[in-house]
Amino acid sequence: MPQTPRFSTTRTRIAGIPISELVERFATPLYVYDAARILERIDDLRAFDVVRYAQKANSNLTILDLMRRQGVLVDAVSAGEIRRALAAGYQAEGTPPPIVFTADIFDRQARIVAWEQEIHVNCGSPDMIDQWGAVSPGSSITLRINPGFGHGHSQKTNTGGEQSKHGIWHEQLSEALQRARRFDLKVSGLHMHIGSGTDLDHLAQVCDAMERAARRVGPSIHSISAGGGLPVPYDDQQDYVDLDRYYRLWNATRQRLEQRFAHPVSLEIEPGRYLVAESGYLITEIRGIKSMGDNRFYLVDAGFHNLARPILYGAYHPMALAVDDDDRPRPDQEVVVGGPLCESGDIFTQSEGGFVRRQRLPEAQVGEFLVIEVAGAYGQVMASNYNSQPLAAEVLIHQGQPFLIRARQTFEDLVRGETKGMDALETGA
Ligand code: LLP
Repeated sequence: MPQTPRFSTTRTRIAGIPISELVERFATPLYVYDAARILERIDDLRAFDVVRYAQKANSNLTILDLMRRQGVLVDAVSAGEIRRALAAGYQAEGTPPPIVFTADIFDRQARIVAWEQEIHVNCGSPDMIDQWGAVSPGSSITLRINPGFGHGHSQKTNTGGEQSKHGIWHEQLSEALQRARRFDLKVSGLHMHIGSGTDLDHLAQVCDAMERAARRVGPSIHSISAGGGLPVPYDDQQDYVDLDRYYRLWNATRQRLEQRFAHPVSLEIEPGRYLVAESGYLITEIRGIKSMGDNRFYLVDAGFHNLARPILYGAYHPMALAVDDDDRPRPDQEVVVGGPLCESGDIFTQSEGGFVRRQRLPEAQVGEFLVIEVAGAYGQVMASNYNSQPLAAEVLIHQGQPFLIRARQTFEDLVRGETKGMDALETGA
């Protein structure tokens, strides 16, 4: 546990800017990211040869561009993510490949875009090897292996073991290599990702499995990827993993492989959450306060259409009431925080299974602002338009200035592509 609490139940500023100013300029609900926090997290990982950002955590174009300018490479899991990476200025080709497409299937669009752009492909299923070999024989691929075990912060984020759909099952490696040979595909690297938000012991177990698999593939291996999964603290009981130890374990694995193959082997890491989670804040306005029996509810203008982690995983997010520097101290109370959606699961304070729990927050009034913290990863990217709610605006604070990096959706955005009613069908208009 950290010595001094990391989180407080009140907050005046984000990255030096008063919350009142952000709200006045950009309205709520609002995602705000602190660029300096992202830069710090990138620097933590500089020991690895390649830091490859898993953009599924937050794929805003400006965030991707920031990563690119820091020398961080990128992972893509769909045609849309490949196109985002290109739009943010990543080159398609290079050594190491700037963009890697990692998936368990190619949907038709993804295979076309990957092929047209000559994107490096990391195959997570035997069928992907055949489907890629058919259009791109002779190219280099990497294989994502499921080592037979996994671990995540929730069963839903565990990506290893036989209940997981991810990766090529470790016992089918030889068969996968045979398939690759049929198309003259060179297996230039291996990749393992056992889960998201796991702990050091589980993360470290992957090293052995990787070494065994790489020895079976042989000297065509020039890179190994430890995947993502690095946790960040979401409350004062949690802490960071020991990154030095993590790096040393992987580096030792890499060195043994280099000795065996007598050539360099590049060591990659593929974090999403670690790079962006703590940079992000979701600012909401309290629009109603009411009591239901013993439960006191703060009802805010953001819901699971903005941040789905609580309803999906029972995930805990620290929250703070926005206050002014000269505000009187206020007593904390145990409250339930819910959103505006017409669905009873629209509660930010819930545990896995949907059980409502309470969180300590200061006494507040309608019209005040609540900041949901550590919301930069898997926040806006998992948002939806449920209840015809627009996606929130996003702001990046860079060198003391807030910049709008995504405009709030309008009603026109919401209905784009829909036909305007039955008249259009009947008249063909
Ligand atoms: N690499 C692969 C192949 C992955 O599947 C993932 C995450 C990552 C890297 C990045 O994992 P990270 O470093 O962010 O833990 N929506 C969930 C997380 C799902 C993660 C899916 N894959 C959440 O909000 O916790």
